[in-house]
Amino acid sequence: MAEYYCFYNKDTNTLIVKPTKKSLQLSRMLILAAVMICSAYICLFCSKQIPSPLGTHIPIIKQEEQTCHDPRILQTQLLHANYPKPKTYSREECKCTPVRLFVIVSMQRSGSGWFETLLNSHRNISSHGEIFRNIERRRNRDAIMRVLDDVYNLDWNSSASKWHCTGAVGFKWMLNQGVMDHYEEIVEYFNRRGVSAILLFRRNHLRRLISLLANIHDQKAKQLNGTHRAHVHSKDEADILAKFKPHLEVKHLISTMQEMQKWASDALQSFKSCRHMVLYYEDLVQNHSRTMDALQFLELPRQQLHSRHVKIHTRPLEDQIANWNDVVEVVKGTQYESFIAASGHQTQLLKTP
Ligand SMILES: *[C@@H]1O[C@H](CO)[C@@H](O)[C@H](O)[C@H]1NC(C)=O
Ligand SMILES: *[C@@H]1O[C@H](CO)[C@@H](O)[C@H](O)[C@H]1NC(C)=O
Ligand SMILES: *[C@@H]1O[C@H](CO)[C@@H](O)[C@H](O)[C@H]1NC(C)=O
Ligand SMILES: *[C@@H]1O[C@H](CO)[C@@H](O)[C@H](O)[C@H]1NC(C)=O
Repeated sequence: MAEYYCFYNKDTNTLIVKPTKKSLQLSRMLILAAVMICSAYICLFCSKQIPSPLGTHIPIIKQEEQTCHDPRILQTQLLHANYPKPKTYSREECKCTPVRLFVIVSMQRSGSGWFETLLNSHRNISSHGEIFRNIERRRNRDAIMRVLDDVYNLDWNSSASKWHCTGAVGFKWMLNQGVMDHYEEIVEYFNRRGVSAILLFRRNHLRRLISLLANIHDQKAKQLNGTHRAHVHSKDEADILAKFKPHLEVKHLISTMQEMQKWASDALQSFKSCRHMVLYYEDLVQNHSRTMDALQFLELPRQQLHSRHVKIHTRPLEDQIANWNDVVEVVKGTQYESFIAASGHQTQLLKTP
């Protein structure tokens, strides 16, 4: 409130002070009046802040909010800048470092694990992973809201936590983890608190399907020394996992891809009223500078980002599907034809330039 009045008075001053000699006397009087009004406001506000001996207390929260406001930040940007006060620890010297709230909305095997490790390599970002993988946390609307409050108040603890100096906090939310079941309340929450959504999708549903099936296979086969790994950090490990060639159920292939498409378009539709950006995995892989767009979106300084993730499926599609000819037969002439023509990605350690 106080900032508003001060801006307001500043504005009135600039309106009032006109460089005409005739009205100089009048101007001075008006300035004096404006200064007096402003002082009166400040006095009024300050007297409210100081706990009076009569017992009127203004919560400390109010005072901190006020002292944290940086006048260089425009009113319109305030929505994205929060000053959380965690219950579990003190933000100390960083209590006035504004925090951006975000969420990565995605689907399994769409590069979100890689993308999140890139973000977490930024010194100001804490992205807590797939916290709603745990069914209890998304049992109902209230459970979800409690988790969101903890995350965005900086009370969520994970290996990604950067504690008191976090400049942006978020997590990864898969579309099948309750977000679409309660999207109206969630969108309302995001808009109320100023949460920005990064929607990350994969264009090529066929490649996504292969990655899904290979991952499901490894959950049982545990190909890397008897442990299941959804992501790997070396080319040798990637090669072992990529050896598996799934046999695709051609009868359901088109409808499966249509379903994937629908999930993505429903999500885009649901989150379009939030502050959001859309990223495609294929674009990130081809052009690592796209990750800088995400930093810009989060209003954070540019910084080199890195991840140890190594891409698993890098070979041409025909080397990755057991019944390739059947698949070509079914997909040819449909809207998904471009997926089978898409060239393989090069083997590379995924790193930003
Ligand atoms: C966060 O979790 C780690 C281990 O998971 C624990 O050692 C640490 O005490 C926790 N911190 C807080 C503030 O809860
Ligand atoms: C990023 O982190 C550094 C070090 O903790 C801090 O000095 C800086 O103010 C932070 N910047 C933002 C934008 O949060
Ligand atoms: C399996 O474990 C051995 C010994 O720890 C290690 O040398 C090898 O690289 C591991 N292989 C894989 C595929 O992780
Ligand atoms: C790479 O991405 C950046 C950031 O979005 C963009 O400015 C640039 O034009 C892209 N380069 C290519 C070759 O597409």
